[in-house]
Amino acid sequence: MSFPKNFLWGGATAANQVEGAWNEGGRGPAKTDVTTGGTVSEPRYITYLDKDGKPGKINQFDRLPEGATYYVNPDYYYPNHKAVDQYHHYKEDIALFAEMGYKVYRMSISWSRLFPKGIEKTPNQEGVEHYRDVFKELRKYNIEPLVTIWHFDTPLYLEQELGGWQNRELIEHYVRFATTCFTEYKGLVHYWLTFNEINNACAFIDMVNEMLHMTKEETDARYREAYQLLHYQLVASAKAVQIGHAIDPDNMIGCMLSTNCAYPMTCDPEDALKTEHVWENATYYCGDVHVFGYYSPFTKRLWREHGCELDITDQDLADLAAGTVDMYTFSYYSSNVVTTHDVTEKSGGNMSTGAKNPYLQYSDWGWSLDPTGMQYFLEKIYDRYRIPLMIVENGLGAYDTVEEDGSIHDDYRIDYYRPHIQAMSRAIDNGVDLIGYTTWGCIDVVSAGTGEMRKRYGFIYVDMDDEGKGSMARSRKDSFFWYKKVIASNGEDID
Ligand code: BG6
Repeated sequence: MSFPKNFLWGGATAANQVEGAWNEGGRGPAKTDVTTGGTVSEPRYITYLDKDGKPGKINQFDRLPEGATYYVNPDYYYPNHKAVDQYHHYKEDIALFAEMGYKVYRMSISWSRLFPKGIEKTPNQEGVEHYRDVFKELRKYNIEPLVTIWHFDTPLYLEQELGGWQNRELIEHYVRFATTCFTEYKGLVHYWLTFNEINNACAFIDMVNEMLHMTKEETDARYREAYQLLHYQLVASAKAVQIGHAIDPDNMIGCMLSTNCAYPMTCDPEDALKTEHVWENATYYCGDVHVFGYYSPFTKRLWREHGCELDITDQDLADLAAGTVDMYTFSYYSSNVVTTHDVTEKSGGNMSTGAKNPYLQYSDWGWSLDPTGMQYFLEKIYDRYRIPLMIVENGLGAYDTVEEDGSIHDDYRIDYYRPHIQAMSRAIDNGVDLIGYTTWGCIDVVSAGTGEMRKRYGFIYVDMDDEGKGSMARSRKDSFFWYKKVIASNGEDID
């Protein structure tokens, strides 16, 4: 196995999925706070009051009805409110990460903990100090923080009153938030990611529309919105990169994309072409802007196909060019199959549609298990961009059983990780500049897709269930001791 000497081994979480304390310390609400729990087959819902004050709910990917307002309905349980209470347990959690030998911990800052509504001119000092304490605690153990500035949690006020990222004004609010982070945590944090899985906005449209039975016109309208929203986020990201570099030239600032590793189902040239177009829309669209600093030629085709007339100014284009990222990071869980032919067997589950790959196994949530796809993605992306790469999410959501003596024998998780680590090593051997790996999540978290606790990802078990019952006690799974060994041997000992 060939991992560089300073390879950054660690784990990853997101504020809204671990912190809890949703209304403590001056924090304002985010959209995840009005999102219920779901299951593998039942979607998460967003709750609201309609224009007549009547409570209602919609699929988390759907739009609020005209005149409705977001609403925390006392009849529902909202899993992100408590999450796994890392807000109060961070010292204990960091000590456990240190015990595993982490070199890096990826986490995010809750925007509404620093700016409760998002529009304030100065931050909530209690929130600022909370994260300072967390970063100091990490540094105590020589763990490098890797901080995601936005991880799916725009303050609810910005969503409700300003229409969310459809509004250009959000750029300035985000930039103020990012600037505060760079200024306050200068010297404590060097690794930053501007937007988590920014490409989901366009990568997931076809899947979501299939789920919501959208017509072609509705789909086009969604694409138009997505490309506009993405433009504002990409400009916000580029401005943040420029400011982050000006505040501290040592800052290493990256983009973060979800992987849509697509294969053609057949050798029909139409399948090959369609697959390439999926790569363009789902992966290269955002990646190229982040890394090259401009929209690639194929974007004109996409905008034409969906009838887009985007609000893009000359100053925006100058900002994109000036704010290119230092590293490309991504989440990798599974791969997809693309075809122009009729599909007999479909993959099913949460956040997974399209043809089933007969060469792969699938998780209990319908996600394909494909370590070779990780190598494929690493090599393809490095070949395109030639800047350092980091895998900042990879893991298996699975049901865990706690034995009578409290032990948790999660060999399925170890069996998932082992070939992925081998895949990374092969990609490094093939010349890829991979600088780090943070598994998702190092500790059990609330699932973003289903809101479940039972879809467990951690090396550390948290005693918490889907109804919010549990002591929050932390315990070590078998995979905890295994990953400790992997890190100590710099990826040599993976048995
Ligand atoms: C990524 C997100 O999409 O995948 C995480 O960045 C998320 O926030 C992870 O938790 C796994 O997805 P899920 O739906 O199983 O939580």
